[in-house]
Amino acid sequence: MLRLHPLCLRLLCFIFSLFAPIVVSAQNANPFIGDIGSIRVGGALFGARCATCHGADAKGIVAPDLTQLWAAGVEDYRVFQIVKEGVPGSIMPSSPAPDNELWAIVAYLRSISTVAVEIDPNADLARGESLFKSECATCHRVNGQGGSMGPDLSRIAAIRSQDLLTSAMRDPSALIGSRYKTVALVLNDGTEVRGTIKSEDAFSIQIMNTEQQLRAYRLSQVRELVRETQSLMPVYDAGALSEEDLHNILGYLVNVATAN
Ligand code: HEC
Ligand code: HEC
Repeated sequence: MLRLHPLCLRLLCFIFSLFAPIVVSAQNANPFIGDIGSIRVGGALFGARCATCHGADAKGIVAPDLTQLWAAGVEDYRVFQIVKEGVPGSIMPSSPAPDNELWAIVAYLRSISTVAVEIDPNADLARGESLFKSECATCHRVNGQGGSMGPDLSRIAAIRSQDLLTSAMRDPSALIGSRYKTVALVLNDGTEVRGTIKSEDAFSIQIMNTEQQLRAYRLSQVRELVRETQSLMPVYDAGALSEEDLHNILGYLVNVATAN
C-alpha cells in the first residue's frame, strides 16, 4: 500500500485537480480507468480516508473486503455512488470530496480488484514461459522456483487486473508494493547498499539487497539513507518487450495462477 506524507498527498491532489476538470464530464463512466497517475492518487486517498476501516490492502477490517466487488459484477458507477453517499444506517460515511477524487479512488479499487485476466487467444504460452524464465525468474518466483527480489508471481494474475499487470511491466515505478520500496544506504564505513525495505523501526532497517540477501542494519551503522521512488524492477517498454511478448507472458501467468 502506498504511504505518502500528508503534504505530498496534498500536492498530488492539487496537481491532479488541475487536470481533472477537463476529463470528468461523462458522469456514469469512470474517466480514470487504467490511468496510472490517477490510480496512484486514488491509492493515496484510499490509504488516508478508507484504510482504517477497509484495511490497507482493501481486504477488510471492520468493513467489507472491497477487492471482490468487480468479480461480483458491480460496476464502477455503483461503487462511486456508494462512496459518495455512504451506506445509511452503517458507519460507512458519505464523502463530500470532489467527484474526481472519488473516481480516482474507484479507479484504484478497480485496479487492485480480483477480475480474471483473459488470455489473448493468440498468446504463445510456451514462449511466455521461456521468456519468463529468462527475463523475470531472476527476481520472481513461480511455484517455488526463481529469485526473491520481487514478489512471488504464482497467483498474481488471479489477484491483479490486466491493466495493473501491464503497467507493472511497462512502468514498474508507478505503483510499488509496500514491501518493495527502494532504499539506498551508505554505511559508516562508506559501503553502499541498495535494496527493498522489508521492515524498519526507530532503530533498525531490514532490507533485501540487490544480491537478494536479507540484511539488517542498526541505524547507528548508517550514515545516509535515501528512499528512492524508482522500482528495482527494470522498465519493460515496447523496445524491451513487444506487445505480443507481453501478452505471451501474461498468458503464461494466467495459466500458472489458474493451476494454483
Ligand atoms: C468508519 C469506517 C469506514 C470508512 C472510513 C469507510 N468505510 Fe466503506 N464501509 C464501511 C462499512 C461498515 C461498510 C458496510 C456497510 C453495510 O453494508 O452495512 C462499508 C461499505 C463500503 C462499500 C460497499 C461494499 C459492499 O460490499 O457493498 C464500499 C464500496 C466502500 N465502503 C468504500 C469505501 C471507500 C472508498 C472509503 C473511503 C473513501 C470508505 N469506504 C470509508 C465502513 C467504512
Ligand atoms: C531485477 C529484478 C526484477 C526483474 C528482472 C523483474 N522484476 Fe518484476 N518486480 C521486481 C520488484 C523489486 C518488484 C516490486 C516493486 C514494484 O512493484 O515495482 C516487481 C514487481 C512486479 C510485479 C507487480 C507485482 C504486484 O504485486 O503487483 C509484476 C506483475 C512483475 N514484477 C512482473 C515481472 C515480469 C513479468 C518480469 C519479466 C518480464 C519482471 N517482473 C522482471 C523486480 C524484478
